[in-house]
Amino acid sequence: MATTTTIATKPLLTDLVSTIDRVPSNFIRPLADRPNLHQLHSSSPSIPIIDLHDFDGPSRSRIVQHIAHACQHYGFFQIVNHGIPEEVVRKMVNVSKEFFALPESERLKNYSDDPSKTTRLSTSFNIKTEKVSNWRDFLRLHCHPLEDYILEWPSNPPSFREDVAEYSRKMRGLSLKLLEGISESLGLERDYVEKALGKHGQHMAVNYYPPCPEPELTYGLPPHADPNAITILLQNEVPGLQVLHQGNWLSVNPVPNTFIVNIGDQIQVISNDRYKSVLHRALVNCEKERMSIPTFYCPSPDATIKPAPQLVDSDHPAQYKDFTYREYYDKFWNRGLSKETCVDMFKA
Ligand code: OGA
Ligand code: NI
Repeated sequence: MATTTTIATKPLLTDLVSTIDRVPSNFIRPLADRPNLHQLHSSSPSIPIIDLHDFDGPSRSRIVQHIAHACQHYGFFQIVNHGIPEEVVRKMVNVSKEFFALPESERLKNYSDDPSKTTRLSTSFNIKTEKVSNWRDFLRLHCHPLEDYILEWPSNPPSFREDVAEYSRKMRGLSLKLLEGISESLGLERDYVEKALGKHGQHMAVNYYPPCPEPELTYGLPPHADPNAITILLQNEVPGLQVLHQGNWLSVNPVPNTFIVNIGDQIQVISNDRYKSVLHRALVNCEKERMSIPTFYCPSPDATIKPAPQLVDSDHPAQYKDFTYREYYDKFWNRGLSKETCVDMFKA
């Protein structure tokens, strides 16, 4: 019988959970840094919902105002009428479930703990640098330009590449639309952010959070801000995501046919701090497996990121020095997830 002093013996949590009935010691957070599960099912107000219907028509300026409000006050919003076909989403979710249900030996063909690998299955966040592990396995993929990466992707389940490629193409279209809205909401040309991201990058993760015997001791993901430009998150029907808002953790409960959008560090920099990349975290539960599928839309590694000159003046001096996304991204992965967001290391 396993005890709390068990050390994880399997590379992936997915394969460890069936052998334990307590949380192994390497997953236990220090007392001062544990989730408060009572908050998880609260019905308190959540993040804004934005209807994208007619974004390319008469509703555009109203939608842009909503985006400005959500980005300034929450850093997060949910979107409805986003135009992504349900069928594409359904296939993405199903193939992800099938992937995590493959035999261990089949999944492990994709395993790597090296964050510089562009396709990999791994666990926690960065097991080489972190002190406490997280209750998560994840498959990470680069998706743009698609032809550079698709042949690295898992070939099992057989429809994986086709289903994920279709989803990621649709997510790129949606990302570009949102970036236009965000540019306009900052009073910039509609293609400003698009141009600022250089040749662009797009990554995605499939996060798999197995049921956890003692969810009050650990996190699926601890509080962190996302390093990219924007994130578009798809989650299954199991709650777990929380967003920090005015000192409280708001639960973002699943709503069918919506995506959750958040501002990442690069938009914080480009906006010269008008918009904040907000801390969020994922909690786990003892009953149900949770899956989330974030698309991380980002600059290309060689893009130089800096505050938009139009948003810099004597009252609002530039808050950041120029840097390349490559420098930023390496720092992010090598220092471990933490509340002290990475963006502070690039302050002017
Ligand atoms: C992430 C993330 C939240 C979730 O992958 O960066 O914040 O609900 N995920 O899984
Ligand atoms: Ni995140």
